Amino acid sequence: MDNMENPWLKLSVLLFMWLSLNCQLCFGADTDTISANQSLSGNQTIVSSGGNFVLGFFSPGNSNYYIGIWYGKISQQTPVWVANRETPVRDIQSSELKISDGNLVLINGSQVEIWSTNIRTSNSSSVVAVLEDTGNLVLRDGPNSSAPLWQSLDHPTHTWLPGGKLSLNKRTNQSQLLTSWKNSEDPAPGLFSLELDPAGTNSYIIRWNRTRQYWSSGPWDEQSRIFSGVPEMRLNYIYNFSFHSDENESYFTYSLYNPQTISRFIMDYSGQIKQLSWLESSQQWNLFWSQPRQQCQVYAFCGAFGSCNEGGLPFCSCLKGFHQKSQTNWNLSDFSDGCERTTRLQCEEDPSLVTGKTDKFLESPNVKLPESARSMSVGSMSECESSCLEYCNCTAYAYDSDGCRIWMTELLDLQQYSQSGSNGRTIYIRLAASEFPSSSNNNGIIIGAVAGSVGLVLCLVIFVIFRWRRQRMINPKVEGSLLAFGYRDLQSATKNFSEKLGGGGFGSVFKGTLPDSSIIAVKQLESINQGEKQFRSEVSTIGTVQHVNLVRLRGFCSEGMKKLLVYDYMPNGSLDVHLFHEENSKALVWKTRYQIALGTARGLTYLHEKCRDCIIHCDIKPENILLDAELCPKVADFGLAKIIGRDFSRVLTTMRGTRGYLAPEWISGVAVTAKADVYSYGMMLFEIVSGRRNSEQNEEGRVSFFPTSVARVIAEDGDVLSLLDPRLNGDAPVDELSRICKVACWCVQDDETHRPSMGQVVQILEGVLDVNVPPIPRSLQVLADNSEHIIFFTESSSSQSSQTPSYASNASSQAKSNTSSTSS
Ligand SMILES: *[C@@H]1O[C@H](CO)[C@@H](O)[C@H](O)[C@H]1NC(C)=O
Ligand SMILES: *[C@@H]1O[C@H](CO)[C@@H](O)[C@H](O)[C@H]1NC(C)=O
Ligand SMILES: *[C@@H]1O[C@H](CO)[C@@H](O)[C@H](O)[C@H]1NC(C)=O
Ligand SMILES: *[C@@H]1O[C@H](CO)[C@@H](O)[C@H](O)[C@H]1NC(C)=O
Ligand SMILES: *[C@@H]1O[C@H](CO)[C@@H](O)[C@H](O)[C@H]1NC(C)=O
Ligand SMILES: *[C@@H]1O[C@H](CO)[C@@H](O)[C@H](O)[C@H]1NC(C)=O
Ligand SMILES: *[C@@H]1O[C@H](CO)[C@@H](O)[C@H](O)[C@H]1NC(C)=O
Ligand SMILES: *[C@@H]1O[C@H](CO)[C@@H](O)[C@H](O)[C@H]1NC(C)=O
Ligand SMILES: *[C@@H]1O[C@H](CO)[C@@H](O)[C@H](O)[C@H]1NC(C)=O
Ligand SMILES: *[C@@H]1O[C@H](CO)[C@@H](O)[C@H](O)[C@H]1NC(C)=O
Ligand SMILES: *[C@@H]1O[C@H](CO)[C@@H](O)[C@H](O)[C@H]1NC(C)=O
Repeated sequence: MDNMENPWLKLSVLLFMWLSLNCQLCFGADTDTISANQSLSGNQTIVSSGGNFVLGFFSPGNSNYYIGIWYGKISQQTPVWVANRETPVRDIQSSELKISDGNLVLINGSQVEIWSTNIRTSNSSSVVAVLEDTGNLVLRDGPNSSAPLWQSLDHPTHTWLPGGKLSLNKRTNQSQLLTSWKNSEDPAPGLFSLELDPAGTNSYIIRWNRTRQYWSSGPWDEQSRIFSGVPEMRLNYIYNFSFHSDENESYFTYSLYNPQTISRFIMDYSGQIKQLSWLESSQQWNLFWSQPRQQCQVYAFCGAFGSCNEGGLPFCSCLKGFHQKSQTNWNLSDFSDGCERTTRLQCEEDPSLVTGKTDKFLESPNVKLPESARSMSVGSMSECESSCLEYCNCTAYAYDSDGCRIWMTELLDLQQYSQSGSNGRTIYIRLAASEFPSSSNNNGIIIGAVAGSVGLVLCLVIFVIFRWRRQRMINPKVEGSLLAFGYRDLQSATKNFSEKLGGGGFGSVFKGTLPDSSIIAVKQLESINQGEKQFRSEVSTIGTVQHVNLVRLRGFCSEGMKKLLVYDYMPNGSLDVHLFHEENSKALVWKTRYQIALGTARGLTYLHEKCRDCIIHCDIKPENILLDAELCPKVADFGLAKIIGRDFSRVLTTMRGTRGYLAPEWISGVAVTAKADVYSYGMMLFEIVSGRRNSEQNEEGRVSFFPTSVARVIAEDGDVLSLLDPRLNGDAPVDELSRICKVACWCVQDDETHRPSMGQVVQILEGVLDVNVPPIPRSLQVLADNSEHIIFFTESSSSQSSQTPSYASNASSQAKSNTSSTSS
C-alpha cells in the first residue's frame, strides 16, 4: 500500500512543506542576505551565493558563541572572520544579528547591543548585509548600490583572505592588524599581530603585544615580486601577491593562481604566520609554510618566567621555583600568562627586610638571556649578586665577560638551549631560600662525622653503580628486534660523543664501539615532537624494515628528551663525499655508480611498496646514501620524517638547504606522495652521472643547471658522453649512460603522475623495461631560460649555515605535458 495515497498524510506533508518554506521566508528570500526587519539567531545561517562561505553563530569548543564566517564546502568548521571576538554570547536562541539604524548589530538576550559595525549612516531602511562568495560580508545601502558602507575584508581578524588587504594608512600612520586568537577556544585578540610596518619600509612585521617586533618579511622587491626576507616565496605556486601605494595608503593584496584552491593565511596563536591549504583527499588542512620558522623565535612565547625549549614538547616550561599561572590556558597551548612564584620572596613577605638576605639564586646555564637588563658597574660576581639583592623587585642577575647585569622586571623571552648548543649564557634566578634544600648545619663535629660516613657510603655506591653499569653495558635490553640502550651506555660507547661523523637535518651522528667491538653510528635526534609511546612505536616500525639497501637500525635510546638511534656503521661514508670532494681523487668508476643507482632504487622500492605502510623518505640526497665496505649503497634516515612530526613545515625546516632535491608539490601545498622521493632520486641521478652538484656557479658568477643540459641532450639525441663526469674519461657504456639520463629526466617531471614509480625505475635500470625519450619538464626549461630565476639562498633567520646551494624556479607547476608513459 502506498502511504502517499492517504489524504491526511498528503496534507500534513504539504503543511510541513509550507511551514519550512514560510520559515525560509521569515528569514529572507535570498539566503546570502540579511535585510532590514530580518534577523539571524539560533542555528540559522546565511550562505554565500556560490556556497563557498557561511555566516552564523559558532562555538570554538567552549560554551561561548560568536558570529563568524566559515568555509561552506569543507568538512571542518574553520572560521575566517569573527564579529564579536571579545564579547561572546551564551544563549544563541535569544541573541540576534540584525540591521538596526543602518548598522549590522548583535544583540544579546537582554537586548543589549554587544557588537556593531559602528558606522554613521543616513539611517536608511534599505541597508542590507550580503555575504559574498569571497568570504566578504558587505553592508550596502540597497542591494544595487555598489559602494559598500562597511565590509569585513577591511576588518580582518586572524585570517587574511584572498582579495583582502592589510594596509597602512599614510595619513595617520595607522596600520591594519591581523591579530591572533588567544588560543584555539578563544577568538579574543591575542598578543601576536601582523601589520605593514608603520615606518613605511614596505615590509610586514610581527609584533608581540603591539609593541615588540620579532619578525620582518624584509622590504618588498617589486621586480622579483617577493619580500626580501622570504626567499622561499619564489617557490610559491599558490599566491599572487601585489603591492599598491598611493598618497593615502599602501597595501598588499593577493589572489590565488588557481581559484579552486582553498587556502588561507593566518596569524596563529603560536605567534607564527602560517599558510595552509585544504587537502580534500585527507580532509585536513596542510600546513606548508610558516614564519618565524622556530617556535622559540616568537618573542615571549612562554610568558613571564617561562622558558622556551625548541627541542621540547610542549615548547614551554616554567623556570624552577615557578608554576603555571593558568593550567587551563597552558593545556590549550596558550602560554602567554606565563608562570608565577611558588614561594614568595622573603622581601615581599616582609618589606622591613630591606636587603632580602634570605633569598638565594638558582644557577641556570646555557640560556638566551632576557632583554631589558640593567648594567651595573661592579667588579665581581658576589658584588653583582649583592646589587640584585638590594632591590626587592630584582629577579635575576648575570655575571660574565659582558659584566654584571640585573633584571628589575618579570623575566620574558628566556630560552633554554639544548645541551649541544654552546652560545648560551648563565643566569642566576632569585628564589626564596626555602626553595633550596636546606644544607646549613651549625654543629661542626656532627658535620665532620657525617661527612666521613657519607664519603664511605658514596665510595661504595659509586663502586656498585660502576659495576652495574659495566654489566648493563654488556647486556642492553632487547625490545623486539631492537636493543634498548641507556644514555650512559652510548655516552661511553662514543667516548662522550667525541667522533662526529656528520650532522644531518635530523641531528648529529657519532661513531661508537660496543663492548663486543662492533662499530656503530649513533644519531642524536633533535626536535623530537613526540611522546614516549609514539616514539617507541615508530622506532620499532623502523626496526622491522630490513633490506640489503637500507641502513639497519640496531637499537635506540629514549630517556626523556634524549632520543638516540643506533645504526650499523658504514665504513665508506656517504655518497656525496665520493662524488663531489676533489681531494678524494679516486673517482667512482661507472660500474660502481650504476650499481649505486640501482641499489638505491631497490631500497626505495622496498620502502614504498614492500613495507606494511608505505614509507616516504622525504629527504633523498647523496648525503643520505651510505656505502658499506663493498661500496654497496644503503639508504639512511628513512622513517625519520614521521618521527620528527606530521607537520610538513617542521619537516621542511629540518631539511633546510636541501631544497634542490625537493619536488614542487612540497611547496605547492598539495599532498606529498612517494613520487616526491622519485623526484629527489632523479635529481640525485644527475649528480651521479656528472660527479658535480646539479647547480654550480662558474667564475663569472653565472649559474649552470646540469639537469637542463641533460634534458636537452636527451631530447635532441645528442652526445651523452659529453654529460659524463670528466674524471671518467668517457669510460662508460653509452646505452647505460643514456638509460640513466632518461630515467632521471622522467623522475623530475613537474606532474607527479608522469614520474615512474621506484619499482619501474628498478626495472628500467635492470634493462627489463625500455624507456622513451622524456619531454623536457617545464620547470627545467624556465630555469635554463632565466638564470636569474635560479636562486641561492640560505635562510636568513637560521643559525645553521647551509653549505649546499639550493635552486628553485618560480615556474607554475601546472606544466602541460602530453606524454605520459614511461615505458613501452
Ligand atoms: C520594516 O518594518 C517597518 C515596520 O515594522 C515597516 O514600516 C518597513 O516597511 C519594513 N521594512 C522592510 C524593508 O520590510
Ligand atoms: C537547529 O536548532 C533546532 C532547535 O535548537 C534543532 O532542533 C535543529 O535540529 C537544529 N538544526 C540544525 C540544522 O542543526
Ligand atoms: C532610524 O529610523 C527608525 C525608523 O525607520 C527610527 O525608529 C530610529 O529612531 C531612527 N534612528 C536614528 C538614529 O535616526
Ligand atoms: C547582555 O550583555 C550585557 C552587557 O555585556 C550583560 O550585562 C548581560 O548579562 C547580557 N545578557 C545575557 C542574557 O547574556
Ligand atoms: C536592482 O537591479 C535590478 C536589475 O539589475 C532591478 O531589476 C531592480 O529593480 C533593482 N532594484 C532596485 C531597488 O533598484
Ligand atoms: C608617518 O610616518 C612618516 C615616516 O616615518 C613621517 O614622515 C610622517 O610624519 C608620519 N605622519 C604622521 C601623521 O605621524
Ligand atoms: C601589553 O601592553 C600593555 C600596555 O600597552 C600592558 O598593560 C600589558 O601588561 C602588556 N601585556 C603583557 C602580557 O605584558
Ligand atoms: C597577479 O596579480 C596581478 C594584480 O592583481 C595581475 O595583474 C596578474 O595578472 C596576476 N597574475 C597571474 C598570473 O594571475
Ligand atoms: C586620497 O584621499 C583623498 C581624500 O579622501 C581623495 O580625495 C583622493 O582621491 C584619495 N586618493 C586616492 C589615490 O585614492
Ligand atoms: C590540563 O591537562 C592535564 C593533563 O592532560 C590534566 O590532568 C589537567 O586536569 C588539565 N587541567 C586543566 C585546568 O584543564
Ligand atoms: C622596584 O620597586 C620599587 C618599590 O618597591 C619601585 O619604586 C621601583 O620603581 C621598582 N623598580 C622597577 C624597575 O620596577
